[in-house]
Amino acid sequence: MSLQAAQNQSSPAGPPTDSSKALYGGKSTRRITVHDIAAATERGEKWPMLTAYDAMTASVFDEAGIPVMLVGDSMGNVHLGYETTVPVTMDEIAMLSAAVVRGTKRAMVVADLPFGSYQEGPVQALRNATRLVKESGVGAVKLEGGERSHEQIRLLVEAGIPVMGHIGLTPQSVNAMGYRVQGRGEEAAQQLLRDAKAVQDAGAFAVVLELVPAELAAEVTRTLHIPTVGIGAGAGTDAQVLVYTDMVGLTGGKVPRFTKQYADLRKVLGDAAKEFADEVVGGTFPAAEHTFH
Ligand code: KIV
Repeated sequence: MSLQAAQNQSSPAGPPTDSSKALYGGKSTRRITVHDIAAATERGEKWPMLTAYDAMTASVFDEAGIPVMLVGDSMGNVHLGYETTVPVTMDEIAMLSAAVVRGTKRAMVVADLPFGSYQEGPVQALRNATRLVKESGVGAVKLEGGERSHEQIRLLVEAGIPVMGHIGLTPQSVNAMGYRVQGRGEEAAQQLLRDAKAVQDAGAFAVVLELVPAELAAEVTRTLHIPTVGIGAGAGTDAQVLVYTDMVGLTGGKVPRFTKQYADLRKVLGDAAKEFADEVVGGTFPAAEHTFH
């Protein structure tokens, strides 16, 4: 975030900002672009991002004004029944991304490049990212890795494909790194800063910081001019993202401590299913008003 943006955010006496342009709560109904995101960051605006994996849920979030939707490879764990994000394929991401694009009118849709779709090198990354832009209609792609993904990001950006980076905990590397807070200790913190700068220098328009100490995430945010999107990275980032099934209480079992549950849809759906089943068994559904003669 720039110094001017930081002043806009912290000083009530700073230059007036036009709230009709806000990413969340603004008046514009056209599809959001990376230029809108850069302008929001320059104004010092914080913005929300949610994952989505189907057209119907995406349309609900779009109507709620969520400006950026991520078709995350978290679909592996929370939507497709895999144990990790590692097995997710390009075909799965491409199909669900197209559904999310069809379900939205305003949100910018960002699709994850899944594990194995860009690690071979920039040309492989370009081939797969091109597919997501052409076939699924997404506005941007996201890929994991800082310095190690620099060349991939650069080629995609040169080809006109906006890229969101993702550093800190990178779940596609779970087999190597496990699920733990990243960037603890001086050496790891310096590496995270180098990764953040590599992502920005390669031309990414934003970067996700996952499971990083809050002070370090705030330092990265002050250092970069592109927006940082935090998940488990404290309140000092420009944007925040949550996996939607965690956020609405659909995810079964243990959810990460950094997530917040805003609804209990698991209970709502379970109760509705039981009520339906009870009425079928008891013969009270269908009733006269649901019946044709
Ligand atoms: O796949 C995903 O949902 C993500 C978010 C956790 C940032 O990468």
